[in-house]
Amino acid sequence: MVYQRVLGIESSCDESAAAVVLDGRKVLSNVVFSQVELHRPYGGVVPEIASRSHVEKLPGVVRRAVAQAFGDDGGGEPGVASWRAIDAVAVTYGPGLASSLIVGLNMAKGLAQSLGVPLIGVNHLEAHIHSVFLGREATLVESSLPLLALVVSGGHTCWVEVERYGEYKVIGQTLDDAAGEAFDKAAKLLGLGYPGGPEIDRVARLAEGRREITFPRGRPRAGVAALGGLQAELCASFSGLKTALMYYLRDNPPEGDGGVAEVAAAYQEAIVGALAERTRLALAGGRYRALAVGGGVSLNRSLRERLQGVAAVAGVELLLAAPEFCGDNAAMIAGLAGYGVGVPSEVAMGVDVVPALEVGEVVA
Ligand code: KG4
Ligand code: ZN
Repeated sequence: MVYQRVLGIESSCDESAAAVVLDGRKVLSNVVFSQVELHRPYGGVVPEIASRSHVEKLPGVVRRAVAQAFGDDGGGEPGVASWRAIDAVAVTYGPGLASSLIVGLNMAKGLAQSLGVPLIGVNHLEAHIHSVFLGREATLVESSLPLLALVVSGGHTCWVEVERYGEYKVIGQTLDDAAGEAFDKAAKLLGLGYPGGPEIDRVARLAEGRREITFPRGRPRAGVAALGGLQAELCASFSGLKTALMYYLRDNPPEGDGGVAEVAAAYQEAIVGALAERTRLALAGGRYRALAVGGGVSLNRSLRERLQGVAAVAGVELLLAAPEFCGDNAAMIAGLAGYGVGVPSEVAMGVDVVPALEVGEVVA
């Protein structure tokens, strides 16, 4: 292990989060303040509201994470010994909303400087992959390599090959909307709550005796420029799906809750089916020992079930993060940094946020 006790800070979107992780896997504390109530009236994340809420909440979230990790819970405030126990500070520097990332990055720089410990800049998406190892046995990382990771979040959907831990190669991705975005947009069209993913998941389960509704499975055509050298069968496209839903609803207004549930189930099936099919194809070559799935959408029950089957057929171990580590959190940030993965301190101290940071991109 490169760093033992790492304080992680995450503020890339609408969660203010801090955590302390030991040896890259043991979560000593994991504090998340969700801004979901602040953004609900707008039906989406409002960047200025998000960054201002980070400014307000992050210091308290960090103090709580440090206090909880080292047993200062009684007073609620970390003592000097607790701050001194931290070996490194890790922080998300991208991808995400620039104005939100800046709050966490700046705070982490100040903390690392005042504590006199290294700062590690972490890629949020690579951290989502690491979330499957939190709380698990030490040998699991090595025994899972080479692994295939599926990252499915509100802003990203990609398939990533991890041959050696900390080295990432994107082998497939969505060419337009992310899976989470497709869920969120559909929930709006269906008049369901915010955020949409969990709502569709919940409502779809109420569907009984499905009518035959099918939505396009979002297969990109081979040779389109957006593929940028990736294989079409390992890529997805979800923007047409949302348009298909819009026209379907215009021509077939659903009747009552049952009708909405049927449409939600069919729509969810189109996304889950697409993700499962691409994953099956990526695993087909038999190169991988494990399938790791991270990101908020990995909470989806239908997706979890489906990938169970895909992994079993391919003969690989399915690694799913515990629910508290699926959505945005700082334990995954601290954990990955514990393994020494990220921008090293001498660079990180001078680094700016990178809102469009890609998996495997190295910022020097
Ligand atoms: O990883 P995450 O918390 O934040 C980002 O990095 O984007 O992912 C949030 C996304 C949202 O689009 C949300 O609707 C989706 O994850 N999500 C779900 C479920 N729970 C959260 N999508 C489908 N089914 C769920 N149960
Ligand atoms: Zn995320």
